[in-house]
Amino acid sequence: MLVRPALLPLWPPRVGDLFGREGPLVLEVGFGDGRFTAELAKAQPDWLILGAEVSAASVLRAYRRLKREGIGNVRLYHGQGPFALRNLVPPGSLKRVIVNFPDPWPKKRHQERRLLQEGFFRRLSTRLLAGGDLLLTTDHEEYFHFALAEAERTGLYRVEVKDPPEAHLRTKYALKWREAGRTFFHAVFTKVAEDPTPWPPTRRYEVAHALLKGELPKDLALARVPLPIPGGVAVFLEVARGEEGFYVLTHVEEEDLTQDLLLEVRRSSHGIYAGVSRFGSPLITEGVKEAVRALVRELGRRGLKVVQDHT
Ligand SMILES: C[S@@+](CC[C@H](N)C(=O)[O-])C[C@H]1O[C@@H](n2cnc3c(N)ncnc32)[C@H](O)[C@@H]1O
Repeated sequence: MLVRPALLPLWPPRVGDLFGREGPLVLEVGFGDGRFTAELAKAQPDWLILGAEVSAASVLRAYRRLKREGIGNVRLYHGQGPFALRNLVPPGSLKRVIVNFPDPWPKKRHQERRLLQEGFFRRLSTRLLAGGDLLLTTDHEEYFHFALAEAERTGLYRVEVKDPPEAHLRTKYALKWREAGRTFFHAVFTKVAEDPTPWPPTRRYEVAHALLKGELPKDLALARVPLPIPGGVAVFLEVARGEEGFYVLTHVEEEDLTQDLLLEVRRSSHGIYAGVSRFGSPLITEGVKEAVRALVRELGRRGLKVVQDHT
């Protein structure tokens, strides 16, 4: 029921491999406690519903709910909606996207964090079927008009403002805002054209490591400074000493993927291994590789020589 990108045998996966069958594919971004997702899955048993949610606590709540209710046509991804859209949804395959009560980020300086921006609408058009749509429900009037303007700027959607369907007003946040007497806003964005810029899936690699010769350093102090990587930053947060060497807690932030992973520098039968630890099964991306390259450069400064480079 949970989708773990690093553990999928095929990348990007096929819909049939994720769900065990084909069917109309729907993505819900920010499902919260999953009560809407569960209702939708029961109301539309033929549909295949993929949910993306950044809050781990919410994913767990939704997971338990779906399990309790014996729901089999939902898959949950813990992470950013755009990552799920890009990698778990094949081009031109999505019937619908549902966004109920997205975080409004009302402060001007936080607006770039909003989900429904021009770039998102453009990219979404590459994944929607012809005539596929996005349904937005919110209590935040300013964000609502922002989203309408952003979509209209693309020229790729027909936008209709409607009354929200009753089911969309039974989410956790809908009930909360209903009690507070707020007004609700709803729009349907139907794809009428497609952005010509392709949006290829995130590249996943099998390995990211190097073998070096030389002495394992006695200590490995690494500066805690952001290292630029393609589309983001990486930071070595902390170094811990293990029996065979060091573990480096590393934070890697890419466009729509944030991972905290362990890198290792340790003795192996072939020399000094510097690379990604299997712990936590991180997705090996270009950004992760770049972090390993930076670590290998650090070891080079300490006199170690690369003998095999798989970074
Ligand atoms: C205001 S809550 C609404 C939750 C639920 N849809 C409801 O109506 O009760 C917004 C949710 O979106 C999630 N979220 C915010 N940005 C996200 C993103 N980029 N991808 C996936 N989930 C996101 C948050 O963690 C939060 O659970």
